[in-house]
Amino acid sequence: MMFPTLFFMLMAVMGATTSSYATVERQIYVVHMDRTKISSLDHSPGDTRKWHEAVMDTITELSAQDDEEEQEATAPQLLYVYENAITGFAANLSTKQVELLRNVDGFVSATPDDMFSLHTTHSPKFLGLQNGKGLWNGSKLASADIVIGVVDTGIWPEHPSFSQDASMPPVPSRWKGACEKGTKFLPSNCNKKLIGARAFFKGYEAVAGRVNETVDYRSARDSQGHGTHTASTAAGAFVDDASLFGMAKGSASGMMYSARIAAYKVCWLTGCVGSDILAAVDQAVADGVDVLSLSMGSFSRPYYSDIIAIASFGAVQHGIFVSCSAGNSGPSESTVANVAPWIMTVAASYLDRSFPTTVKLGNGLAFKGASLYSGKPTSMLPLVYGDSSGSKGVEYCIDGSLSPDIVRGKIVVCERRLGSRTGKGEQVKLAGGAGMLLVNAEDQGEELFADPHLLPATSLGAKAAKAIKDYVSSDKKPTASIDFEGTVYGYPAPVTAAFSSRGPNPIAPDVIKPDVTAPGMNILAAWPPTVSPTRLKSDKRSVEFNIISGTSMSCPHVSGLAALLKSVHRDWSPSAIKSALMTTAYMLNNKFTPIKDAAAGGGSSSSSDLATPFAFGSGHVNPERASDPGLIYDIGTEDYLNYLCSLNYTSSQMALVARRSFTCPLQPGDLNYPSFALLFDNGAQNITLTYKRTVTNVGAPRARYVVVVKEPEGVSVRVEPKVLKFNKLGQKLSYKVTFVAAVGRKTTSNAYSFGSLVWLFDKYAVTSPIAVTWQ
Ligand SMILES: *[C@@H]1O[C@H](CO)[C@@H](O)[C@H](O)[C@H]1NC(C)=O
Ligand SMILES: *[C@@H]1O[C@H](CO)[C@@H](O)[C@H](O)[C@H]1NC(C)=O
Ligand SMILES: *[C@@H]1O[C@H](CO)[C@@H](O)[C@H](O)[C@H]1NC(C)=O
Ligand SMILES: *[C@@H]1O[C@H](CO)[C@@H](O)[C@H](O)[C@H]1NC(C)=O
Ligand SMILES: *[C@@H]1O[C@H](CO)[C@@H](O)[C@H](O)[C@H]1NC(C)=O
Repeated sequence: MMFPTLFFMLMAVMGATTSSYATVERQIYVVHMDRTKISSLDHSPGDTRKWHEAVMDTITELSAQDDEEEQEATAPQLLYVYENAITGFAANLSTKQVELLRNVDGFVSATPDDMFSLHTTHSPKFLGLQNGKGLWNGSKLASADIVIGVVDTGIWPEHPSFSQDASMPPVPSRWKGACEKGTKFLPSNCNKKLIGARAFFKGYEAVAGRVNETVDYRSARDSQGHGTHTASTAAGAFVDDASLFGMAKGSASGMMYSARIAAYKVCWLTGCVGSDILAAVDQAVADGVDVLSLSMGSFSRPYYSDIIAIASFGAVQHGIFVSCSAGNSGPSESTVANVAPWIMTVAASYLDRSFPTTVKLGNGLAFKGASLYSGKPTSMLPLVYGDSSGSKGVEYCIDGSLSPDIVRGKIVVCERRLGSRTGKGEQVKLAGGAGMLLVNAEDQGEELFADPHLLPATSLGAKAAKAIKDYVSSDKKPTASIDFEGTVYGYPAPVTAAFSSRGPNPIAPDVIKPDVTAPGMNILAAWPPTVSPTRLKSDKRSVEFNIISGTSMSCPHVSGLAALLKSVHRDWSPSAIKSALMTTAYMLNNKFTPIKDAAAGGGSSSSSDLATPFAFGSGHVNPERASDPGLIYDIGTEDYLNYLCSLNYTSSQMALVARRSFTCPLQPGDLNYPSFALLFDNGAQNITLTYKRTVTNVGAPRARYVVVVKEPEGVSVRVEPKVLKFNKLGQKLSYKVTFVAAVGRKTTSNAYSFGSLVWLFDKYAVTSPIAVTWQ
């Protein structure tokens, strides 16, 4: 069983938690049904619950006839009925009842429920958003009424980031959402800013037992901080003088500060369950959200068995833009999650802001690190690296491994792997240590997390780690000091975060994933006052804003930007918005050199320290340019279905996504994706791939676009025609690209090569990366 995870880097536990359910007679299944079969029976459209209840009654009777066991005769408990994003239900079923269900006309599939685990304020400025101008033109924003649905750990409704502006218009009548009553949550907690708050725990409680109300709220109230942080990043109101202990000080706001927020709590203390996520997305579609933000996921799997992919498809069919985090499993290859082509998959990168520290060693060497420690610098103190004590796990400073006799009064070197970063500092402090150097392993590269440590402590990159270990092992009396420099701006940025999950796309190598990158490193946003900034029990500090990192933080940036684009282009489809953000993204940093990768060689998709499209997709989002992209690559839901056909999905796998029987066209068309991914056999000769694309003119009515291609190493590229002449807005023109693998390409060359295809006209540069995988 999989527990989808919030892509959240503060906590040590990352990636999928695997849990084994006890083998029980009954368990929760998510059942997909054919929508067309239901509506033909149903007398009251829009209410399929009665139909599902009738199905339940039938299988209860049948199973009772079939079997004397009393348990079998118990009616299955219907947890949820899904009618918007997907069609079907979640229920507690015995295996026999599942068998009987298979004979019901309209049955598509039944899968056991899954559990998923959990995966600033400078960022508007860094993204080029300026008060009163362009997308942040107040008078325009006020009239646009956009609702962002955040599917996460809930929300802290009293936070000033969610307070209503007196000038906010009344909640639109199209809004069907609700502010549900629950533990410490009342309908009156909502306002014109936070217009919906719902909690989904039927699936969770079926798996993990009743929500423990001493440590969590059985309501939309956030007990973890994650959901409050992501919601405020997408759409938080302006709060002046925001900071964490005076750091990252400024006016905090979400990307679309005027948007309304609806919080859907699906993640509880030990994870998020698939049937609850489906129920939340299904409800969000019915409520009327415009954008959905999901900072969670598990490992990639085929779309027909990926709950988030299926639910998102239903949302996209309703015109809702869906943004998801790419995951925090980088820099290893093919780790990217949430890769369905209709999802905007968001990688994470650094802002130009850092919280630098300087570590000086007794031998005169000095290194730069990062920290959010808010106290004084240390003097020159003895330095110790675990090995000498001999205790197990001591180099990782895991719980109880440090001996006070050895570390008292000293600065302790701790490896970053295994356990929470601030938790290691807590261990050093408990053992009487005076400070901590938290060092990266080689494959963690020069990634520098800034954390609000409980003692003087700093993170350091892999190069510093090596020098420090060499020094400690060669010097009888090693010493070090740590100095804290506060908040500093102007670093080369963006830089791809090493932790950000990488392509190539493990499910469908013909679509580049992730799609784009956005700020996800050391992001300041709203935080519940009851959750300490480190989330450690011994940490008694209460903060209004916290700084955390992850693709969980980059995803809501893009959700908010998509909302901004929707506010100025009401007629754009989710794919049009996605295309605009992708084709206008940039690949050069603020110093006009190519974007670097913090993994710097740690990731094998790049032998240099430059990031590739498998790290950042089409590049870093640029919202102002995306509002006027010139051309867009639009994709309709039928196109996505044809694309799935081209992947040779069976008709029942197709039905899962399409919610009806679907006959594949004989000649599957190419998906009109705004980027190109190619798969060639290494040593291939004269292999030719031809892709067709169609662009829609949304820039100047009369335009003459000329193509400029940067060929990937080993591939020649031919575009036909080379010029696209438009004479009105909305006009669509198609072109063909032929890729030919060069004769005699050496098998010893890189496993990947990259290029680009750009349509140029006037101020427009509609850019698509080309990524080639040589296998
Ligand atoms: C803001 O939008 C209004 C209404 O569309 C427009 O009249 C005004 O010129 C815009 N202001 C700026 C600075 O773009
Ligand atoms: C599902 O059914 C089993 C067996 O009847 C029962 O023990 C369990 O509590 C049920 N779970 C839920 C969530 O109703
Ligand atoms: C709920 O959590 C508290 C605090 O961790 C714990 O002491 C208690 O045993 C838990 N209750 C249940 C029913 O698990
Ligand atoms: C789908 O099946 C066809 C015919 O068997 C085959 O040529 C094609 O390569 C398959 N495509 C994929 C993506 O597996
Ligand atoms: C590649 O194709 C071209 C044109 O079709 C042909 O002239 C050439 O001989 C081919 N080369 C190889 C090595 O097959």
